Amino acid sequence: MNQLFKTLKYSKISFIKVFQFNKPIVLFSLAVYIFNSIQSNINIYLTGMLVNQFQSQSISIVIQTIMMIAGLQIFKLILDTFSRYKNLQLSINFAQRSQADLIHIVAQTELLDKEHPKFKSDFLYWSYASGQYYNSYLGTIQLTQQIITSILGFYLLSSSFILLGLMAVIIGIIRGAVELSSVRHRVLLNQEIQKKTREHYYYFFLLTETQHQKEMMLYRLVNHFKESWETAKKKVNMLELKLEKLNINRYRVGQLLSTLNYSVILIIIAVLIANQRLTIGDYVTITMALSMTENNIAALFQGLSTLMESANHIEQLENNKELVQRQSISTQETGSSPFFFHQEIKVNDLTFYYPNREKPALSHISLRIPKGKKIAIVGANGSGKSTLIKVLLGLYKVPPHVVFIDDVGIEQINREDMWQKTSAVFQDFIKYTTDVRENVAVGNIGQLHNSERIEHILENLGLLDEFPKGIDTKLGNLDDDSVNLSGGQWQKLALSRIFIRDKDEVIVLDEPTAALDPMSEVNLMNQILAHCYDKTVLLISHRIGIARQADHIIVMQDGGIAEEGTHQELIIGTGPYQMMWEQQREWYE
Ligand SMILES: Nc1ncnc2c1ncn2[C@@H]1O[C@H](COP(=O)(O)OP(=O)(O)OP(=O)(O)O)[C@@H](O)[C@H]1O
Ligand SMILES: [Mg+2]
Repeated sequence: MNQLFKTLKYSKISFIKVFQFNKPIVLFSLAVYIFNSIQSNINIYLTGMLVNQFQSQSISIVIQTIMMIAGLQIFKLILDTFSRYKNLQLSINFAQRSQADLIHIVAQTELLDKEHPKFKSDFLYWSYASGQYYNSYLGTIQLTQQIITSILGFYLLSSSFILLGLMAVIIGIIRGAVELSSVRHRVLLNQEIQKKTREHYYYFFLLTETQHQKEMMLYRLVNHFKESWETAKKKVNMLELKLEKLNINRYRVGQLLSTLNYSVILIIIAVLIANQRLTIGDYVTITMALSMTENNIAALFQGLSTLMESANHIEQLENNKELVQRQSISTQETGSSPFFFHQEIKVNDLTFYYPNREKPALSHISLRIPKGKKIAIVGANGSGKSTLIKVLLGLYKVPPHVVFIDDVGIEQINREDMWQKTSAVFQDFIKYTTDVRENVAVGNIGQLHNSERIEHILENLGLLDEFPKGIDTKLGNLDDDSVNLSGGQWQKLALSRIFIRDKDEVIVLDEPTAALDPMSEVNLMNQILAHCYDKTVLLISHRIGIARQADHIIVMQDGGIAEEGTHQELIIGTGPYQMMWEQQREWYE
């Protein structure tokens, strides 16, 4: 019962969603479906009449009836073909809307949640589930057709002999019950298939993407990963076969029942004809109406079971949307203060865990970053540098009263406003495989068409000549005439984004020069520092040569701050910075 209410609820939601998306097409389709159900019954009635007319009526009446049957059929054909095209149009446009909704969900989800591995598999499943709105809508109008057809069919049958009508209904219902019995199992199987699909997709991507080919070839990895792909794919294949087996079983039981029913009914009809209680025309009408009614009742349950299946998927999606909406509402509630930064960023005893890790990524961090200072953050891999800057940028939420900007808790600051005035070039910055122009303009997308400014920035950085068609050079492999860039060239492009921003007060650079040659490194860093002379800069680097230019250095170790001070203060100590300094000096000497 609960399942039925749920189905009703989500079918209604789906129907309204599609109806509101395109009212004329939905109304038209509904009309076509209703017409079809009436037409199929009239067709049967007329066919029976025709058979009787052959025996008793004149040829002109027979021809009239034939013309009526053919006329209705042709009208149905015209309606069907037109409606098919319109429905395809609706389904394509609606699918695009569903994808747009998914993009919205991702945009609304907290970064920390998005980085959790579970999000990937959930997302795959949501993509699948979002297709269920349309399926559910389609199921609902098909169900309407099946209900009307069955009622009219039952009426046709009962008007000849009530027992026949009842038998068709009973067998239809039993067939339907078989359908319904496997809904839950099918939902679970489908969910599992969606989740497991992620693995074999990943291996397929690994084996076929251009950027992976050199390692695949050099390390001779194709066979190894192909095996992993095969294993993962086989798991999914097995589940798919299991699902198909369930479907075949339902079909088999349904058809068996139907055949049995048909045989019994044939006997009844034979007896009735022998007693002259039925004409041949009645016989034709009954057999046609019987198979139509029974099939429709069975299909009705089949449709209902598909609707139930869809309802379960939609329920999960809707629950998730509610969750996302609640989260985004709480973001708005807590983040109402504008971002004002006149004095300092302050961190008081910050400890931070990634949800899927037991050890904290940051532990008991306290620090102060005065406005306008250049702060270097150094430390071994995994010591927490990138995590710290993501917290400071408000990308990861932390408990209240831990991170402050000018004494206002970061949780109270409007993040949109904050992100207008802060920027970062991440360690894993995005290489937009579109064109050079866009790669610079992503820093301030409103400037996308300001060619002069983009060219000027690249010219000043000495980068413009590196691109054969200037800022309109296509990058990556989306177009046949795209070019690829070296790792350093990509990094320079990412750094150039800083120069197109207008309101930045805080700039974060996570390993900004890791891929640059020494000349470019010095050149670019000098330009960045000159550009940022009045801004607060957080600079993560493993290179002491870069860190020493900062006003203050924070040395991180194991999620905590091991020491901090100026370059001069730290190199006379005995801490990790001094060790790094000694090691790197050896390389340079
Ligand atoms: N998204 C994540 N989910 C779970 N754990 C993470 C995630 N990102 C980082 N970590 C873990 O948090 C710790 C700190 O990582 P972080 O990326 O901050 O180090 P880092 O100092 O920037 O290192 P590197 O110098 O290699 O860039 C590490 O133990 C890392 O494995
Ligand atoms: Mg890092």
